[in-house]
Amino acid sequence: MCGIVGYIGSNDIKEFLIEGLKELEYRGYDSAGMAVITDEDMRVFKAVGKIRNLEEKIKDFSPSGEGVGIAHTRWATHGKPTELNAHPHLGEFSYVVHNGIIENYKELKKELEKAGHRFVSQTDTETVVHLFEHYLKELNDPFRAFDKSVSRLEGAYAILLITKAAPDTVFFAKNGSPLIIGKNEKEEIFFASSDAPLIGHASEVTYLEDKTRGYCKKEQISIFDESGKNIKPDFKPLTADKELAQKGGFRFFMEKEIYEQSRVISETIMGRVKSDGVELEELNREFLDGIESIKICACGTSYHAGLSGAYLIERLSRIPAHVEIASEFRYKDPVLSDKTLFVVISQSGETADTLEALKMAKRSGLKTLAICNVDNSSIVREADITLLTRAGIEKGVASTKAFATQMMVLWIFALYLAQKRGINPQTLSKEIDAILHIPKLLQVKAGLHEKIKRLSKRYLHGHGFFFIGRDIFYPLALEGALKLKEISYLHAEGYPAGEMKHGPIALADPELFTIALMPKNLLYEKIKSNVEELSARDSTILAISPEPFEIADDFIKIESHDHYMMEYFEMMLVVQLLALEIAIRLGNDVDMPRNLAKSVTVE
Ligand code: G6P
Repeated sequence: MCGIVGYIGSNDIKEFLIEGLKELEYRGYDSAGMAVITDEDMRVFKAVGKIRNLEEKIKDFSPSGEGVGIAHTRWATHGKPTELNAHPHLGEFSYVVHNGIIENYKELKKELEKAGHRFVSQTDTETVVHLFEHYLKELNDPFRAFDKSVSRLEGAYAILLITKAAPDTVFFAKNGSPLIIGKNEKEEIFFASSDAPLIGHASEVTYLEDKTRGYCKKEQISIFDESGKNIKPDFKPLTADKELAQKGGFRFFMEKEIYEQSRVISETIMGRVKSDGVELEELNREFLDGIESIKICACGTSYHAGLSGAYLIERLSRIPAHVEIASEFRYKDPVLSDKTLFVVISQSGETADTLEALKMAKRSGLKTLAICNVDNSSIVREADITLLTRAGIEKGVASTKAFATQMMVLWIFALYLAQKRGINPQTLSKEIDAILHIPKLLQVKAGLHEKIKRLSKRYLHGHGFFFIGRDIFYPLALEGALKLKEISYLHAEGYPAGEMKHGPIALADPELFTIALMPKNLLYEKIKSNVEELSARDSTILAISPEPFEIADDFIKIESHDHYMMEYFEMMLVVQLLALEIAIRLGNDVDMPRNLAKSVTVE
């Protein structure tokens, strides 16, 4: 996702900004830019693609003396990745960079256009700089103008703004998207979306709270809350260890990524889910005309998201949806119809089998849609249309946040299809309500993590794990088993709970661990009897459910919800943490498990 850095001081502005952007590359981006004001000289540079393209453009630019600068890596949400859409955005005499989505930008833009402002980009961000200049004329005070502009914004943002009207100042605001201010003894002030760019520069940092805004200039950091009350910043020393800082205090990237799910899934939802329905800007309405069925193709964890997505698509939209493993699909001489929409799902966008399956479908004249985490990847370039999952870079080989965001995109897509076909308003509103609860529910509770950590010591041996579930919880069981085997090297299988009696139950004994996904809102009685059958044969049962279950040997209680997808996401968190804690106890390298690769570009 987008990244922001900013600087006030007299050392090398350009160097800090460009190196800072490089530290944020991991968030993913498709264009970059910077703006600098020194001695009232204002310069801006933008480039599409990698940061080295921006470096090329600034190679002859050498600002000196006191100055302020802001820079940005953009991951397109509104408008294509072009230079015009890249940040910083310019008004007449000010520049802004922004991370997040301004949800009411269309209304604001209309209002500003009426007042004579001319827009040049397709972005939501450009409204911020015009608003500022508009209010500056009215109020004649840069901070009051900035404050008033921010109070008009709805949505999520981390914003930095510089202006010729106050050439020594950086204005900032934060709501929903991260923003950090750092300082050092050399009277420099820094801004960034995460710690990484600040290490080696700032000695102390403060993490801004939501709804705060303010301004900084040499030796002055002023922060205010929404009501205008001055807030005393709470500065903390910053570690000098880069690796440690990148992991943000977590033991492994996988753990950090599990904890990030709540935040990144808000980004997945942002701008796509409104109180009265879902919107997918990437899809034009005609694209789906004539589509009578959906074929989903993917590998690994993405395949499990696809399997789950098919349940959602059929249940909500009544459009038949089928899922295939890409490596199987490629060689089976499949029967394809141009009334089928071909959907590929991939975190990396580079998985060879998925990419080839996509090319095959295109050659057969099918419309294609990619659900992908990496913009400009091969799969994104090949597909007709892409829905980006917006998980940010995932470093752990075992996929977690990418899966969570794929699931969210699939759920929104299923609702989009349902809306197109006409959905009962009560059902729509129940689904939307559930979606909007997911970010909160994905916040990892200390008690839950602690309980899983303690329980994990009982599950380090045995002759196998069966993760079982029914309906959409069956693919979640597959994913739980995959997570465990990937990083613990223990044998684990996912199985449809109703299928256990057709063979696998023969394995049941106390050393066979059954992890039972038992949602209250979907087939609870059915799965209960399946688990009872296993318990009667002495399998050790770990039940995950909102309902207490007497015969379970171990029990992880999830919150009680009234939508099965809320139970799905919470159980997803539990199986991820369980795999993580078992693997850590076994002393494995969780982030780089043996024999596995993050991006599989060979078939
Ligand atoms: C590899 C990774 C898995 C991933 C699979 C598909 O096996 O280790 O975590 O699920 O590839 O990758 P994709 O990038 O297409 O989602």
